[in-house]
Amino acid sequence: MDHHVKDLGLAAAGKARIEWADQDMPVLAQIRERFEAEKPLAGMRTAACLHVTTETANLMRTLKAGGADIVLCASNPLSTQDDVAAALVAEYGIRTYAIKGEDTETYYSHIDAAIEHKPQITMDDGADVVGRIHAERPEMLEYIVGGTEETTTGVIRLKAMATDGALKYPIVSVNDADTKHLFDNRYGTGQSTIDGIIRATNRLIAGRNVVITGYGWCGRGAAMRAEGLGANVIICEVEPLKALEAVMDGYRVMPANEAAALADIWITVTGDVHTIDAHHFEVMKSGAIICNSGHFNVEINIPALREMAVSEREVRPLVEEFTMADGRIIYLLADGRLVNLSCAEGHPASVMDMSFANQALAAEWMVKNAASLAPGVHPVPEDIDKSISALKLASMGVKIDVLTPEQEAYLASWQEGTV
Ligand code: ADE
Repeated sequence: MDHHVKDLGLAAAGKARIEWADQDMPVLAQIRERFEAEKPLAGMRTAACLHVTTETANLMRTLKAGGADIVLCASNPLSTQDDVAAALVAEYGIRTYAIKGEDTETYYSHIDAAIEHKPQITMDDGADVVGRIHAERPEMLEYIVGGTEETTTGVIRLKAMATDGALKYPIVSVNDADTKHLFDNRYGTGQSTIDGIIRATNRLIAGRNVVITGYGWCGRGAAMRAEGLGANVIICEVEPLKALEAVMDGYRVMPANEAAALADIWITVTGDVHTIDAHHFEVMKSGAIICNSGHFNVEINIPALREMAVSEREVRPLVEEFTMADGRIIYLLADGRLVNLSCAEGHPASVMDMSFANQALAAEWMVKNAASLAPGVHPVPEDIDKSISALKLASMGVKIDVLTPEQEAYLASWQEGTV
């Protein structure tokens, strides 16, 4: 079986960690059991471009149980867990192309290997496979039935393609499901971002000014967890509504130009370019740590930082020290790539359980419904989203009330008012 991973000798360790994650992914496990019996993806050639983690491995096992013929490649050069990649090949028979720290050329050669599979389904995290097929391999479009997209940044790219009339097949925006973004983006990014910063630096968070640029679900999660560890949280935001929400959530809100001089730790989660830029580097405190938890490594203007610095060196794994002309020091984590997946292990299994339940069910739904779907971005059907929340609650042993017939009737009526 063709593959490209770091070392197949890591497979046993990877398998043990995949099984550990599986214990906290009960919804996906139930879907896997049903897929095993029903084979809803029988024979479907699938190109999955996802972070190669223990949780992704359990999604791959589920798709395979459903009959899919999968090739997996990394969706980020630094997020691959090499032991997992090895186990996927050696223990689970899934063709995998992913090596932690791969250069850009290798990264795209891995994506090309997935595209060579002539996928009928694409499963992206960041839309790199979709983008590459449309831009460079349009002859592959004839095989494709549909796709799924995992993350906010990918959905934004796909919607831009659709607006331009460039998107040639239907794609389900998994990110937009409530059981995805309300949990994965908020609690997953919240915990794993702080986890990445701590694992990389071992710095105390308490009493530090933690600046967060972007108050979407990811920014909210990171703010909540940084505050929980005793940080003074400062939010930078461009949308008035989100900024107002941050104020009412109890955080200081100010422009990045002002926050720059205060930041001890600065996290970007905007999905946009250069949210930390040259003029910020000029005024930052010596010793400040900067990192990114957005999908692409564009949020920090790293080329400007390199140009302004008089020297740079790696002082700990994935911690780069830049010395500025005036002697100040700025630390950059993970080369500006996703700090939660590069310096830690990404979101914990319990939230990925719901994200990847959405992926598996969205792929099944796509295969069943693709013929009637126009090219474009489609939401996860509401019944899938609802069933995942019900299954997750049940797996946690949490019971909830149901409306009485009287309450149902009251909600459906308009005649009764003030009594
Ligand atoms: N994105 C964020 N965390 C992840 C994880 N643990 N696995 C796959 N994709 C992720």
